[in-house]
Amino acid sequence: MNEPVKVIDLRSDTVTQPTPAMREAMYRAEVGDDVFGEDPSVNRLEALAAEMLGKEAGLFVASGTMGNLVSFLTHCRRGDEVIIGDQAHSFTMEVGGASALGGAQFRPLPNQPDGTLDLLDIQAALRPANIHYPPTRLICLENTHNRTGGRVLSREYVAAVRQIADRHGLAIHLDGARIFNAAVALGLDVKELTLNADSVQFCLSKGLAAPVGSLIVGSREFIQQARKNRKMVGGGMRQAGVIAAAGIVALTQMVDRLAEDHANAKLLAQGLADTPGIEIDPENVQTNIVIFSLARGDMTPQELENQLKERGVWLFAIGGRRLRAVTHYEILREDILTALAVFCEILN
Ligand SMILES: Cc1ncc(COP(=O)(O)O)c(C=O)c1O
Repeated sequence: MNEPVKVIDLRSDTVTQPTPAMREAMYRAEVGDDVFGEDPSVNRLEALAAEMLGKEAGLFVASGTMGNLVSFLTHCRRGDEVIIGDQAHSFTMEVGGASALGGAQFRPLPNQPDGTLDLLDIQAALRPANIHYPPTRLICLENTHNRTGGRVLSREYVAAVRQIADRHGLAIHLDGARIFNAAVALGLDVKELTLNADSVQFCLSKGLAAPVGSLIVGSREFIQQARKNRKMVGGGMRQAGVIAAAGIVALTQMVDRLAEDHANAKLLAQGLADTPGIEIDPENVQTNIVIFSLARGDMTPQELENQLKERGVWLFAIGGRRLRAVTHYEILREDILTALAVFCEILN
């Protein structure tokens, strides 16, 4: 009988299974009613997250989408405007929650290829006081930036946005779904990247491999109000310590190893650059997301996705000529070499 072929699942870092240490921690988790503030594991996770990201308090939420939504609800009143990238996850992939549920309006600005918003574009988008205008309230940044290929926003860039925000009395929300990837890529303490944000959302269930959950961190006052907004959107989770326990393992054991995912992503990008019919600049691959283009007229990206899938390499065509592969802790160096051989087989 043939050996079953290992699926090399590069669709997303969200596909990761909990590690054995996480399952053990979940089994043993001390729990209580978190809506009463009595779940020791949730309390520990929230304190740990706040401490690691250099903020006063933390709040455990069900997902990155919920973390961003609750943050928007907490920063904004109905009719307020949020400056955000046109490729931001919160703008493109979160069902317009801030508008639908919070009455806030997005002001999308073009994301630059490196994931930033041009500082001049931000300046130009600020609304002066005028009876006709919605008040600008918030600037939302994303680090790493998913749709531009896991690009890292530098500490200096965020500091420059902070200066604009301070001059105009605005807050900054950081969608840091993959903020630890950014910190590891830059070799910085993550606090350096969150220092200039008023609120940060980050995900436990992406590269850090926990099964569920994200955290919001910010000032004590902000988190107190966010807790109320979380309740309003149905996010009071009771004995959530069962999943928070895995989150503690994610934060204490899974951060440093993200460097391996970045090395594997680079290896994949370099191999793809040498593969006929593929266009990619490996220099642009800074973290665990690899976006590349299929530059052949005789095959669509969807057909390439399908052919790869038949051979056990899973990834997504993401529109236009582009495809995306994401590395994570279940992907080994040898899997990347296998995937590259499959690409060659199909495209040669
Ligand atoms: C940058 C970014 N922000 C937020 C999210 C939302 O996270 P979740 O899927 O947990 O809602 C994602 C998910 O991929 C993301 O990539």
